[in-house]
Amino acid sequence: MRVIIESDAQGVGWRAARFVASLVRRKPGCVLGLATGGTPLGTYNELIRMHQQESLDFSQVTTFNLDEYVGLDPAHPQSYRYFMQENFFRHINVDPGKAHVPDGRAKDLGAYCQEYEQMIEHAGGIDLQILGIGRDGHIAFNEPGSSLGSRTRLKSLTGETITDNARFFEDESQVPRLAITMGVGTILESRQCLLLATGTSKARAIRSTIEGSITAQVTASALQLHRDVTAVIDEEAAAWLTRREYYAEVEEAQSLLENGEFSRLGIGNQ
Ligand code: F6R
Repeated sequence: MRVIIESDAQGVGWRAARFVASLVRRKPGCVLGLATGGTPLGTYNELIRMHQQESLDFSQVTTFNLDEYVGLDPAHPQSYRYFMQENFFRHINVDPGKAHVPDGRAKDLGAYCQEYEQMIEHAGGIDLQILGIGRDGHIAFNEPGSSLGSRTRLKSLTGETITDNARFFEDESQVPRLAITMGVGTILESRQCLLLATGTSKARAIRSTIEGSITAQVTASALQLHRDVTAVIDEEAAAWLTRREYYAEVEEAQSLLENGEFSRLGIGNQ
């Protein structure tokens, strides 16, 4: 896993947006996997700025969101569809017919989850999946104990997640108990993952994800099995990592390589 440590949340948003923008420019018809929550907001804001000021074009992009609460109407201010509409979609030129968020009001939720998987497949699979992480190490709504091979399905939220997400609702009792979520297995099939984390509350989960053992108790740790994951995190989220020096050396070597400074890497000195 590549680990990039930025000084603060703003730096994380800036760096992550450049990852996404570079893919959209290289492959205008790419498929993006998107997350909600506080963490990716800086990334979305920077992408919106790039669309408005640098003509970053989303017209051919297809998107699939990770999850949605069960029972909330798409127009409900706390639904993830509404979140995406307000914080990203309505500010860019994505085709509304290509911006998918799971439907938490589907009549047959089981059948709908399978359909969502098929829609991803028909779109050609996800090129780049943006992920936040819960304090308990969840990705999407794959709470501790979720199968690491899981697919899109219904999931009961843990008390911790309900408490964390209550900040968006009037009170905790209004937070839905069930969500539709892509599975860990679905996420692992995306071609590239971008894991974002900011703030001290994520430090423990980030340590377990990057330097801990692979376990269903920390579903983000399954990302260690993926061949192309970049974690972009801030200093606070990185606070518990023990191999920070090495991650910085890797980044330095990478930029020397990109700039053709081979002699400083000991290449061609013999
Ligand atoms: C949301 C999602 C969740 C969040 C996680 C962190 O679509 O998939 O896994 O990424 O709960 O949320 P924030 O960013 O609000 O701390």
